Amino acid sequence: MKVRILASAAVMTALAGPALAVDDAKLMKKANETFDPIPTETPELEDNKITEPKVDLGRMLYFEPRLSKSQLVSCNTCHNVGTGGDDNLETSIGHGWQKGPRNAPTVFNAVFNEAQFWDGRAEDLAAQAKGPIQASVEMNNEPSQVVKTLKSIPEYREAFAKAFPDADKPVNFDNVADAIEAYEATLLTPNAPFDQFLRGDKDAMSAKAKQGLKLFMDKGCSSCHNGRNVGGHGYYPFGVVQKPGADVLPRDDKGRFAVTQTADDEYVFRAPPLRNVARTAPYFHSGKVWQLEQAVQIMGSAQLGIDLNDKQAGKIVTFLKSLNGDIPTVTYPKLPVRTAETPKPKPMMAKEEKTSH
Ligand code: HEC
Ligand code: HEC
Repeated sequence: MKVRILASAAVMTALAGPALAVDDAKLMKKANETFDPIPTETPELEDNKITEPKVDLGRMLYFEPRLSKSQLVSCNTCHNVGTGGDDNLETSIGHGWQKGPRNAPTVFNAVFNEAQFWDGRAEDLAAQAKGPIQASVEMNNEPSQVVKTLKSIPEYREAFAKAFPDADKPVNFDNVADAIEAYEATLLTPNAPFDQFLRGDKDAMSAKAKQGLKLFMDKGCSSCHNGRNVGGHGYYPFGVVQKPGADVLPRDDKGRFAVTQTADDEYVFRAPPLRNVARTAPYFHSGKVWQLEQAVQIMGSAQLGIDLNDKQAGKIVTFLKSLNGDIPTVTYPKLPVRTAETPKPKPMMAKEEKTSH
């Protein structure tokens, strides 16, 4: 580790003149005033007690394609826990192979976001989870159908009874959402080099990453991307200083305007969390930018009115890579077989669906 840091500092000196001397202690202090490390333990949720049976059930539901109308699409289809907690597509593909309007954010550490979605329209993960199950471009199902499906399978009836021991009728749509939320709360990525740095190990980040961190704070990125998730709260226009072109910011998605109907909220989006951002290309709600360096430069001009040169953007990207934490180890759940009462899948193709209208 030490050797690598020395080598990269030496290369940088050779290529770019003397490397910035970064005062580690000062940087660490300022960083700790702005950010918090990802905890290694599952956090407690205000109104949803996390228990092992609930997390086990939540994991089954997260991987359960039969929550969707086609019985083909699960949460993991678009938030793949093996590929950074997202789908790495420009915008997601859901029911009927429809292309959704927005890029899928990662589920990792999402429990620490103050509001969910690009426009913050869901207040927590349980409220959130009900969205995609019903959204026509995602899983396109109805709560009653979900409950009917789960009730028809004895192993699910048993798992719900264990997860919600006090409930009269444990298999219901609210409990589906609560179980998924409990499971999602376990999807944390602790121990990133940046977390180790925040906890006092000054050698956990390379010299270049530390220079990137300093730029990130000095230039003002951290005025919007701060806290535990380095973002995930606060709403800002995309284009505080200069609106990006329609190729990056399509004019038909007005962001938070759709939630609040206030003119001030046109093209306002949540400052996204930047944890693991190097693993979740492409970028922005439109998913139009594939290079992290380019996303950083767009942020400079759009949000701060500054031109970041390639060297500065490279340093910031090196810092952003130090936000990659340990990916959780996930055991694929055993999903119980259907019974004669289980509703059959509905065709994926949009055309055949029209017959019911
Ligand atoms: C067809 C793809 C698709 C499926 C299936 C899907 N999602 Fe999503 N998910 C998305 C997209 C796209 C967004 C962003 C939508 C927006 O902001 O308007 C999103 C947003 C989220 C967020 C918010 C993250 C954040 O940072 O704001 C969470 C959490 C989430 N989904 C969890 C789930 C769960 C749980 C399921 C299963 C019940 C699920 N998703 C199913 C595509 C999908
Ligand atoms: C005024 C608030 C603000 C400032 C300052 C700001 N950002 Fe952002 N950032 C946002 C918002 C809002 C978005 C979401 C834009 C969108 O896609 O609609 C975003 C998106 C991003 C993304 C894309 C993340 C993803 O998952 O797609 C990156 C990377 C990023 N910012 C990095 C930076 C860097 C680096 C700086 C400093 C040069 C910076 N930001 C400054 C508000 C800000």
